[in-house]
Amino acid sequence: MDNRPIGVFDSGLGGLTAVKELEKVLPGESVIYFGDTGRVPYGTRSRETVRRYARQDMAFLTRHDVKAVLAACGTVSSTAGDIGAALPVPYFDVLNPTARAAAKRTRRGVVGVIGTNATIHSGSYTKALLQAEPGLKVFCQACPLFVPLVESGFVEPEEEITYLAAKRYLEPLRQAGVDVLILGCTHYPIISKAIGRVMGEGVELVDSGREAALALAEELKRREMLSGGERPRWAEYYVTDAPENFAGVAELFLGHSVEGVQVNDIESYWAESTT
Ligand code: DGL
Repeated sequence: MDNRPIGVFDSGLGGLTAVKELEKVLPGESVIYFGDTGRVPYGTRSRETVRRYARQDMAFLTRHDVKAVLAACGTVSSTAGDIGAALPVPYFDVLNPTARAAAKRTRRGVVGVIGTNATIHSGSYTKALLQAEPGLKVFCQACPLFVPLVESGFVEPEEEITYLAAKRYLEPLRQAGVDVLILGCTHYPIISKAIGRVMGEGVELVDSGREAALALAEELKRREMLSGGERPRWAEYYVTDAPENFAGVAELFLGHSVEGVQVNDIESYWAESTT
């Protein structure tokens, strides 16, 4: 039994979709969430910069005495898995559990992957999918407009601007005959209806935050690291800029309000970013 919180981080708000799933599968667990709202987006940055930011974010969480770290960010998961694997606590990310789930669920062996520029250009999803099932056909598409659309609140299914962007990005995947589509960015479940509208009913959408939450739950159980006793769960939220914006949009991601969002100076973790 381990009553310490689970540490979850993302470049900003998107990781809250994974927290929402964690709340469902592990309702007794406390969470410390770190969103790097001052430096978002990560998905348009170089590999070196994403890795430096990821080191700092992980250092922040491990200094807060978490029992496990979840990188709830497709970009970090695709770029900095080796940094996470070296942490002193169990590390989880969205990449491998999502690839395994998609490989299992495809009927035709044709899988689509969408994510940020950095995620798609890393080639990590293709590698993980082919490791899980060598015969798969994989079609990838970067969707750089999706994150700003979500952050700007264009999230309703009837929102034409989001539908048009989705159609432009996803039509080639639909025509390629994918029957499973990986939402490789934790922002994308928020616009899953627009994505589903383009892809059609026969295509299953795989939510990377959900798959990561399920994998984390299973592994903490296996290691006998779940919380016990009567203590109520709690959550703390840290950001690097504009806490009031975070609190406002967090409700959209989580389905409930958050309070007491704290600002943290991530640059003070500079030393960790170079070691
Ligand atoms: N949360 C990031 C991801 O899942 C998307 C936002 C960003 O580009 O930082 O890749």
